[in-house]
Amino acid sequence: MTSYSLHKGAADKTKCDVVVAGVVRTKKGLEAAPGGEGIASAYGRKFRPLLSTVGFEGKPGEVAKIPTGGTLRSPLMILVGLGEAENLTPEKVRRAAGAAARSVSNAANVALALPTPDADHVRAVAEGFLLGTYAFTEFKTSKSDEAPGEVVVLTDLARNKEAVTALETAQVVAAATALTRDWVNTPPGDFTPEKFAAAVTQTKKEKKASKVTVKVTDAATLEAEGCGGIIGVGRGSANPPRLVQLTYKPRGAKTHLALVGKGITYDSGGLSIKPGPSMMTMKCDMAGAAAVVAATFAIAELGLPIAVTTFAPMAENMVSGSATRPGDVLTMYGGKTVEVLNTDAEGRLILADALVKATENEPDVIVDVATLTGHCVVALGDRVAGLLGNDDELIHTVQAAAARVGEALWPLPIPEEMREKVRTNTKVADLAQHNTERWGGALYAAAFLREFVGDTRWAHLDIAGPAFNGHGPHGYTPAGGTGMSVATLVELARELSEKK
Ligand code: BES
Ligand code: ZN
Ligand code: MN
Repeated sequence: MTSYSLHKGAADKTKCDVVVAGVVRTKKGLEAAPGGEGIASAYGRKFRPLLSTVGFEGKPGEVAKIPTGGTLRSPLMILVGLGEAENLTPEKVRRAAGAAARSVSNAANVALALPTPDADHVRAVAEGFLLGTYAFTEFKTSKSDEAPGEVVVLTDLARNKEAVTALETAQVVAAATALTRDWVNTPPGDFTPEKFAAAVTQTKKEKKASKVTVKVTDAATLEAEGCGGIIGVGRGSANPPRLVQLTYKPRGAKTHLALVGKGITYDSGGLSIKPGPSMMTMKCDMAGAAAVVAATFAIAELGLPIAVTTFAPMAENMVSGSATRPGDVLTMYGGKTVEVLNTDAEGRLILADALVKATENEPDVIVDVATLTGHCVVALGDRVAGLLGNDDELIHTVQAAAARVGEALWPLPIPEEMREKVRTNTKVADLAQHNTERWGGALYAAAFLREFVGDTRWAHLDIAGPAFNGHGPHGYTPAGGTGMSVATLVELARELSEKK
């Protein structure tokens, strides 16, 4: 476990194994970013030549490790690029701290001398570094724990109340993000619905989260309750489905937020089977459920005054003689019938049951998070999530919350014709699960989900792209599970708890 603290102190005078500072580009050339002034003055006129010797350009994401030879009180400095001096944002600082964290090795203590003009930047420095040190070693035979024992954020705000709270928030949110990453990275055979549900129960115990209640519903009960979506998707698998519900109801809460997350522990596509290459990363298809569960524990740990009820339907989408067929009709929780036309569009089926359940508690707002469609990845790439819903003001609120914590969400419409298609593309049931015409698949999926939220204000995050990083690490984002949307959900809860 790494300890994090705030200290007032100069970068050049702090004794530690590694000091991290930023470098910005200005009209006059490269300069130490705020926080690292002490380093620039310790090197004096030699600072710029030093940077050019190692070919440093100050580009975002750029990192240089430089032995200090006694010029500073730490033997090693890590410089990170922050780009243009005028355009510093918390997110740029968060990414730089993450890049620095990934290049630290074999250090017992680290001082971070990055820009901290306000509490948001303090949070970004700590959070970026915490997220950047993440490693998933559960299935490695040799585990080397590289994380430093002590990290000190150097800041003039060390005694500022907001900065202290910001550090605490960073630690809680980063831990929840890491938990989400762990769950996404765990191999699907080791994370069946039953095991996922057990992991949630176990987390409540480990966190001593007495304010969160966890309820696990098994397949027989789901069947008896009429959750035809969850049962229909789960019935091709030897590992039966589950529904996990979390409740957090602090005294005095005026607002009630319901969270729903897609928990497909593996998506083979079912009988509408995926080609091999598309199946390779489908252990990530429970990232939405992982994010809403981890965010709920984080909201409770922070003690935010808002009621949260969370629904995580979990199923494995597999191929077998008992699998649902394209052409089958399922009756969802609440009674609506759905004709299944493509068993690979399974997420919307398990979400339908959970959304109806969510509306029963009459929440003020429902937010669902799902690795729902490849179409959304085509539209927005793999670093931006789609944001859809039935209430423009809520969509704006969610997007603004995401922007404050550095997550990229972009609004997509649900055009009027999609309502018609969802209702008329089937001749035998109330709704058609799938649009045989492929254009706008993310919009159609959202139009389908909208049928199950009644008139509750609802936002839908399609995180199919950014939930899983199939490439190399960048900034504070590792390869594999990213924990996308945890920070946004916690920030949204904070904002909603302050309204009314
Ligand atoms: N889990 C996938 C979506 C996905 C794609 C997640 C890529 C992460 C990365 C989802 O269940 C799916 O298979 N969607 C289909 C929908 C189609 C059948 C309408 C898709 O995207 O092709
Ligand atoms: Zn899926
Ligand atoms: Mn699928």
